Amino acid sequence: MRTEDAPLIRLEDYRPSDWLIDTFDLDISLHPTKTRVRSLLALQPNPAGRPGAPLVLDGDELTLKALALEGAPLDAAAYAASPQGLTIHAPPQRAFTLTIDTEIDPSANTKLMGLYRSSGVYCTQCEADGFRRISYFLDRPDVMSVYTVRLEAEKAQAPVLLSNGNLVAAAELPGGERHFAVWHDPHPKPAYLFALVGGALDHVRQDYVTAEGRKVELAVYVEPGKAGRAGWALDSLERCMRWDERVFGRNYDLDVFNVVAVSDFNMGAMENKGLNIFNDKYVLADPQTATDGDYASIEAIIAHEYFHNWTGNRITCRDWFQLCLKEGLTVFRDQEFSSDERSRPVKRIADVRTLRSTQFSEDAGPLAHPVRPRAYKEINNFYTPTVYEKGAEIIRMLKALIGDGAFKRGMDLYFERCDGTAATIEDFLACFSEASGRDLSHFARWYEQAGTPTLVASGQYDGAAKRYTLELAQSTPPTPGQSEKEPMVLPIRLGLVGSQGDLPLKTGSRAYSGDGLVILDRASLSITFEDLPEAPIPSLLREFSAPARLELDLSDGELIRQFAQDSDSFNRWQALQSVATRALTTTGRAKAERSALSVTARALGEALDTFLRRDGLADPAFAAQVLRLPAPADIAREIGRDVDPDAVFGAHRALSVAIGAALLPRLPGLREALSSQRAFSPDAASAGRRALRNELLGLMALAAPAEGAALCEAQFASADNLTDRLAALAAMTLVPGEAREALIGRFAELYSGEPLVLDKWLMAQALIPESGTLERVKRLMQHPAFSLGNPNRVRGLIGGFAANLTQFNRLDGAGYGFIADIVVALDRANPQVASRLLGSFKSWRMLEPVRRRLAQDALGLVARTPGLSRDVSDIAERTLA
Ligand code: PHE
Ligand code: ZN
Repeated sequence: MRTEDAPLIRLEDYRPSDWLIDTFDLDISLHPTKTRVRSLLALQPNPAGRPGAPLVLDGDELTLKALALEGAPLDAAAYAASPQGLTIHAPPQRAFTLTIDTEIDPSANTKLMGLYRSSGVYCTQCEADGFRRISYFLDRPDVMSVYTVRLEAEKAQAPVLLSNGNLVAAAELPGGERHFAVWHDPHPKPAYLFALVGGALDHVRQDYVTAEGRKVELAVYVEPGKAGRAGWALDSLERCMRWDERVFGRNYDLDVFNVVAVSDFNMGAMENKGLNIFNDKYVLADPQTATDGDYASIEAIIAHEYFHNWTGNRITCRDWFQLCLKEGLTVFRDQEFSSDERSRPVKRIADVRTLRSTQFSEDAGPLAHPVRPRAYKEINNFYTPTVYEKGAEIIRMLKALIGDGAFKRGMDLYFERCDGTAATIEDFLACFSEASGRDLSHFARWYEQAGTPTLVASGQYDGAAKRYTLELAQSTPPTPGQSEKEPMVLPIRLGLVGSQGDLPLKTGSRAYSGDGLVILDRASLSITFEDLPEAPIPSLLREFSAPARLELDLSDGELIRQFAQDSDSFNRWQALQSVATRALTTTGRAKAERSALSVTARALGEALDTFLRRDGLADPAFAAQVLRLPAPADIAREIGRDVDPDAVFGAHRALSVAIGAALLPRLPGLREALSSQRAFSPDAASAGRRALRNELLGLMALAAPAEGAALCEAQFASADNLTDRLAALAAMTLVPGEAREALIGRFAELYSGEPLVLDKWLMAQALIPESGTLERVKRLMQHPAFSLGNPNRVRGLIGGFAANLTQFNRLDGAGYGFIADIVVALDRANPQVASRLLGSFKSWRMLEPVRRRLAQDALGLVARTPGLSRDVSDIAERTLA
């Protein structure tokens, strides 16, 4: 179907289902190419639906084999079946049962939606609308049923048979070749949470007793031979379950909780009830094959999926427009968990980096949309940083606005009132209105209005009156379909930094709600603070209290003083980022103005040197973040128009080299002080030391390539973990030459047979900022480690190249053409992976005219390809619009 023909689905058109399905019995006989599915639906008219309505079930590429109503085969005239649906024209207007037989081919399923095979393992992915590829059904989240699932398979092929809920029966079948298992899930759920797994898998397991006293068997299933890498995931699971009991009062509600890792998966992981299915990248870890970053993301994603059990499963979404109801809230929960397990400020800094690079850039381009979109053609294209990350920021702001106590009461009310329902954002917000006694209708605009607000701030100190006046103003740029913007409710955490630290905040302003929090809920505001003995430096958006761009004109000197004296770690980090950003945007705009850069480089170099000398070793994870400049892509976004990626990259490189040079005398000693004699441990403190040590290695490679390269080789040879080896490889990619190629070769030898590690190896090469990279990437596509059929391989190599600012944006357009061709080729097999890759073009409009034109041509080429999936044509058309 062409997108122009694809219907636009609108929030305002929502109406309840005409039919409900109370219980659902599934009987699935697994076979590589001919899997038989028998569905028994217990239907009843929905009192909230239209009386006398036909029964219209969803399907996708299905073949109907048999159909019976209350056991009796249906007359051909009584129904209409197609691959896309099954309609019973005049069903009985009472409760009745329907038996539907379909046959599907999991081996031919390359879309990885519905039932498919991954390295021989049967698995499913049903969110958002994949269940209809298994059987005809009311495939919508507000139809919730109690499932009983019987799975049957050849024992040798699928010794492990899993589904949602609790195991109620399992046995061999006569003859001994086949066996079956029956799973029952007492909690009503929508079809998107259904899952099954069948295959030869190893597992690790552990007993758990909830705070309420329920015994639960936890297990993590992995490919045979990989059980030794499942321990961290299991450990993370136990920790996040305890945390959810303690912090949100949520207990688990089944007798088993299973996690299964598969190697072919479109996304990160999926929260199917009691049977979470994961991309193996987010499960498998040991020191040799996982980095510190991997350990952290496994912990976070295990927690994310587990937390969905309450925020997503027990309370699900009424319709897909409410996606952020479960995703934004669950991201907020996993971020809080990681903050408690690790360092809160460092976690916040890392999250804000991600928010800015993924969400701010989405919000600034043609794919911008509200956290709750009003219309879509393809829901798969709305699993976005806006829905997830900005969705989480809204929850964080809500908490700031109403306070911790009211937030807790609101959450408790939500869990109590909405449990077992398919809810909306309105249902959610009503709980917090009641708990806080506040009208949240203005705050709710965060769900409706797209775009990143800009907060413009300026201050004036009156020395005679000891008074400081802060002017705040906000505006939001136009986004597709929303040209006029209204003011938002911005919770602004602030402090006034004096020479001895924070000054007391005394003001009569109604916008000041105490505790260092100002609420800006109109276009502009002026606040006067009294009794200030000296001119302060305003520290605004502490902890990044609102997802906004801040424009505040402080001098480099003031920012560097803020870095030294601010009590808020996030703003200390931000202060130096601001210094670098200003210099880089200025220089990145016009290649000529390099002088601004050297002045800044000197100032930054001194500040960093002092910091590293005084307390760099006190919190290495924080220091690593301080040393890392904003990414070139962030600078490009700040520049915003007529961007020349080469100029931006050049400025970034020059500043990095200059800072590296300024710190050079100190680097070896610091690295030495950070090295550890102890065996590898993935804990946050050890990871922080490695992060700083490797940040310094990168600077050395830039500032002193020969010594840097030698250090990379030495570190590679002596490392006892992947983090340090990969950092050596990454730093080495900055130094062209034979030594680099040799190290690339050694890495591949060491990790041959480790696909997940080789993904990083592919990506490191795809990111090399040199003109030879495109040819290298094309060559690597022929490497045995690469496969266009596996999403992780594609994201590593091809996704890496699309994120390579200078090479994707080559001046000859070859980077655009390459990605466009791959999108088209990939689309035939896996539309979701193809459309995500096409998202790499989302910032094309901010490019200078020559590249803009070339990117537009490549996009046009994709858009005009006949037979595109709805996923890709939707992105192509919206990106070009
Ligand atoms: N719901 C999953 C999550 O956020 C993401 C996902 C969406 C996975 C769609 C697969 C398909 O945890
Ligand atoms: Zn999620």
